[in-house]
Amino acid sequence: MHDIEALVRHRFSPKAFAERAVDEDTLRALFEAARWAPSCYNDQPWHFVVTRLGEAAHAALLASLSPGNQAWAGTAPLLVLGVARECFAHNGAVNRHAWYDLGQAMASLLVVATAHGLYVHQMAGFDTERAAAACAVPAGHAAVVVAALGYRGDADRLPPGTAEKDPDARERKPLAEFVFDAAWGRPGCGTHG
Ligand SMILES: Cc1cc2nc3c(=O)[nH]c(=O)nc-3n(C[C@H](O)[C@H](O)[C@H](O)COP(=O)(O)O)c2cc1C
Repeated sequence: MHDIEALVRHRFSPKAFAERAVDEDTLRALFEAARWAPSCYNDQPWHFVVTRLGEAAHAALLASLSPGNQAWAGTAPLLVLGVARECFAHNGAVNRHAWYDLGQAMASLLVVATAHGLYVHQMAGFDTERAAAACAVPAGHAAVVVAALGYRGDADRLPPGTAEKDPDARERKPLAEFVFDAAWGRPGCGTHG
């Protein structure tokens, strides 16, 4: 196995978040990273609605999560709704890559979050209509993901049944299963043999 960059290696999705707040300058650095992500036609279809613990919007976004996610995500100082504008700004045509672009922006954000000692746990387990209503998302925009964001907390203080995965025990498919050489199924990138 090759070495991987420290910022990629250290990232993982925790469930326990510390009470420590994230200051506005740091938060701005994260969204600045998202801002410079590539996108189809440079349309930049991503939007992020940031909600802060103690605010009504945070409680409303938390309430949109599945019960399993609500069990741990409520301690995150920030819950961020990731939203994609569904049509291109320049011609109104459907943008098939809007969600892809939002994902790329989020991936850039994750790298810079890790560099600042922050952690992000993304969630698909939420009610999209409730989340969109909680954050006043306009028509033509899809609520794609909710991300819990903050500093890492004490996993021993998580409620029963919400245990955090051991970050060192995470598993991934081998490269040969998803990198192919010239044709589907043919191992590539030095993964044969
Ligand atoms: C789009 C997306 C949706 C996810 N949805 C959930 C979720 O609803 N609940 C949850 O606990 N984790 C969720 N996760 C976290 C994944 O389970 C996690 O990224 C995966 O197990 C790999 O672990 P790692 O991020 O710690 O490397 C989601 C991750 C992504 C990218």
